Amino acid sequence: MCGIVGYIGKADAATMLINGLRRLEYRGYDSAGVAVLDDDRIVIAKAPGKVAALSERARAEWPAERFSRTTIGIAHTRWATHGPPTEVNAHPHLDQSGEVALVHNGIIENYRSLRARLVGKGHHFYSETDTEVLAHLIGDCDKGNLFQAVCDALHQVEGTFGIAVLSAREPGKIITARRGSPIVIGIGDGETIIASDAAAILAHTQRVIYLDDNDIAIVTADSVDIRDLHNIPVTREIAELGLDAAAAEKGGFEHFMLKEIHEQPDSLANAIRGRLDFNLGSSVLAGMGTSPRELAELGRVVLIGCGTSLHAGLVGEYAFEDLADVHAEVQQAAEFRYRNPILGSRDLVVAISQSGETADTLAAVREANQKGAFVMSLCNVVGSTIARETGRGVYLHAGPEISVASTKAFTCQVVVLLMMALKLGRGRRFSREEGIRFAREIEMVPALVGRMIRQNARIADIAEGYAHNEHAFFIGRGPMYPVALEGALKLKEISYIHAEGYHAAELKHGPIALLVKGTPVIAIACDIPGKDKTLGNIEECRARGARILGIVTEGDQEAAECMDDFITVPRCHPLVATIPAVVALQLFAYHVARIRGCEIDQPRNLAKSVTVE
Ligand code: F6R
Repeated sequence: MCGIVGYIGKADAATMLINGLRRLEYRGYDSAGVAVLDDDRIVIAKAPGKVAALSERARAEWPAERFSRTTIGIAHTRWATHGPPTEVNAHPHLDQSGEVALVHNGIIENYRSLRARLVGKGHHFYSETDTEVLAHLIGDCDKGNLFQAVCDALHQVEGTFGIAVLSAREPGKIITARRGSPIVIGIGDGETIIASDAAAILAHTQRVIYLDDNDIAIVTADSVDIRDLHNIPVTREIAELGLDAAAAEKGGFEHFMLKEIHEQPDSLANAIRGRLDFNLGSSVLAGMGTSPRELAELGRVVLIGCGTSLHAGLVGEYAFEDLADVHAEVQQAAEFRYRNPILGSRDLVVAISQSGETADTLAAVREANQKGAFVMSLCNVVGSTIARETGRGVYLHAGPEISVASTKAFTCQVVVLLMMALKLGRGRRFSREEGIRFAREIEMVPALVGRMIRQNARIADIAEGYAHNEHAFFIGRGPMYPVALEGALKLKEISYIHAEGYHAAELKHGPIALLVKGTPVIAIACDIPGKDKTLGNIEECRARGARILGIVTEGDQEAAECMDDFITVPRCHPLVATIPAVVALQLFAYHVARIRGCEIDQPRNLAKSVTVE
C-alpha cells in the first residue's frame, strides 16, 4: 500500500528519495511523487504509474544541479483510495500557500467536513484526495511554528495517518507523525531517513526508531525529537533492524516471488531453529509468554487474519484440534470486531499477519484485548504494530517478503502454528514419545520443501498446459482444504485467472455446474484421511470433461492414475504435508503467471501491506 520516504542529510535528497521509493515498490502503488526544498522553495515532481516514470519526469523537468544540491525532501508512492491514480491526485500535496508539502498514508475520514470549512475560508483544492485537505489544514494552523501546526491539525483529524511534512518556512526539519499507519525513522551518520517501511532504510542504516500511535517527531539531519500530540516529550528506544540489505534484492532470480519460493527451505529452517525440544517432545516458543498451566486451562484458540494469513490460520485450526485437543476456530479479521465476538480469559487469540500492519487484523487485536482474551501475534516484520501491540507472540523469521503475493510467510506461519499446536498438545494430550515423533516431522519440513523446489522445471512444464484457461477450481479436504483456498488465491492474484477454492465435497453443491470440457480442476489429493472421497470427487469432475492436475503423495499410484497431470509431495504427516503441497501450488501459479506475461511481483490493484479497512 502507500509508501513514504523522507530524507534529510548530506546531499542529493532527490536521488535518495527516488531510490527509497524503489525499495517500497513491492508494496503496490499506482502513482508516485517527490518534493524537495531547493533555494528555500518547495519543488514537486509527480507521475502516474511507476517510480521509473517519476524518475524520468523529475530528470526531464528539473535542472541536473537540483539533484546534487538538495538535502531535504519527502516522497510517496500512492495506492489510490480517494480519486483515481492521476498526477494531480499523487502526493506530495501542498497547502494553500504552496510552502508546506505533505505525504500521507492512511485515510482522513472526516475530510469532507474539513474541506468544506476550508473552502469557506477561501482555500482552493486541486485534487480529490483527503490528503490535500490535511495539507491545507496544517497550513491553516501554521502561525509560525510548524510542529504546533501539525499537532493542531492532527487533533482535528479522524482516521489514520502516517505523515511527513516539509515547510519552506522552516527548512532543515521534517515533521513526521503516525496514528494507525507505520513510521520508522532511520538514524544515519549525519542523515536521517523517514519511511513507512524499513525496506527504504536498510541501505543506509540498521539503527531505527519506530513511532507509536500519536507520536509526532521533529527530525533533522542529526536529531530526532519525539513528543505526543500534546507536546509532551516521549522516549522511544533505538532498535537494530538486523536485516541484510542484500536480502531485499532479487539475487539473480527473475522475480522476487520466485526467489522467495526458493528461499523457503532456509526461511523454514530459520523459523524452526532452536524451537524444537527433542528431550521434552515439545517446542520452545518463549515469546508466547505462557505457563504450562495457562496452556492446559485454555478453553479455545481463535485464529484471526486476512488473505493468505487467514488460510494459514485454517491449517492451524486443524492442528490445534487434532494435536492439542482444544477447540479452535478461524475468524476473518475484518469481520471480527463488528460481530461482537464472545471472548473470555480462557480464549487464546492468535493474530496472524506477515506485515504486522494489516488494519483489519490490528483492529481485531484491539477488540480481543478489550474483551479480556489472551492475545498474541504471529508476525514476520519485527517491530511491526501488531507485534508491538500484542506484546507477546512468535516471530516467523522468514526474512523480508517483497513480492506482493505471500509465499514464504505462509509456510513459516504454518510451521509456527504446528509448533504452537505441539506445545499445547504436549501440555494437554501428547505423551513425550508422541511429542518427539511430531517434532521430528516438523524438523523434516525444510528438506521436504527443498524436494518440492527441485521439481520447479517439471512444474513449469505442467503450467504450460493450464496457462491459457480463464477459470480454474482448486479442491481439497481436511487440512488440504485451506491449501486449495491458498492455491486459488495465488493463481488469481498473479495470473488474473479466475480461480476458486472449494472443499472437495462442496463442488457438487453448485460450482460443478461451471465445469465444461477442459476446465482445470487442481485437486489436492495427498494420501491423508479422506483421500478416497477426494478421488471420488475427482471422478465426478472428470465425468464432466474437467482437466485434472493432482497434487498426490509420492508412490500413490492409485491417485496419480486419476489425474491428467500430477505433482508429487513427499509422504509425511497430513498436517506437515500442507507445506510441500502449497509450495507446489506456489510454483504452479508463478509459472502460469510468467507464461501469461503478468507483472508477477506487483499485481494490478494489490498492495503488500493493507493499512486501510
Ligand atoms: C496474498 C497476500 C494477502 C495477505 C493479506 C494479509 O498473497 O499476501 O492476502 O496475506 O493482505 O496480510 P498480512 O499477512 O500482512 O496481514
